[in-house]
Amino acid sequence: MARNAWTVLSLAIFGILAVLVGCSSEEDRVEPLCQPDQFVIGEEPGPGEFVAGYASSELFFTRTSEFVSASGPHGDVRIWYSKNIEELIDNMCFIVPEGTTAIKEEDFSGSGEVEAMVLMIKKDDAYDPENNNWYYEQLDEKGDPTGDESDRGKIGSCIDCHSQFADFDYLGGTKLKSGE
Ligand code: HEC
Repeated sequence: MARNAWTVLSLAIFGILAVLVGCSSEEDRVEPLCQPDQFVIGEEPGPGEFVAGYASSELFFTRTSEFVSASGPHGDVRIWYSKNIEELIDNMCFIVPEGTTAIKEEDFSGSGEVEAMVLMIKKDDAYDPENNNWYYEQLDEKGDPTGDESDRGKIGSCIDCHSQFADFDYLGGTKLKSGE
């Protein structure tokens, strides 16, 4: 009888451990909810670089001309995307083309001023295929590089969080609009 109890107990412990191990090995990657055939694949390439006059450039558009308070760690934000994805982002599942560029202004303190900026550029298929080929960069409040090498490239902390937006090709803000 006692032996049976031990058997049950050890099976239960084994079961719990198996679940825990299973969960922790899966948490690295968030799988898209969309099925592979549901993704709309964008074709028109984007500028592929930070454009200093983005706010008035014909190469960019925004749906957040006023700061919106966002869910992420970036405070209140305004986001510009390159024009080549203006219609694409209305789809529920999409993949953006190479050169697509996203620029985000951040206001952490609620001052109404831009306090820092971040940039994402979609690179070619060989750049970082495991993580949808995005280049990330942290910029200063004027949009200039910070001078710190760790603020640019395949930044792990950016990738870890942005991978949750797998249905939108790692873009987290495409459904945000000012005034809503
Ligand atoms: C903890 C989660 C998280 C981390 C870490 C993170 N982001 Fe974001 N990011 C978001 C969310 C959420 C949005 C959508 C807008 C918002 O809520 O601010 C976003 C939006 C963006 C955008 C606008 C384009 C878009 O729609 O995604 C850029 C550019 C961006 N982030 C760059 C970066 C960079 C560069 C880093 C690393 C230095 C970074 N992010 C780290 C969550 C994160």
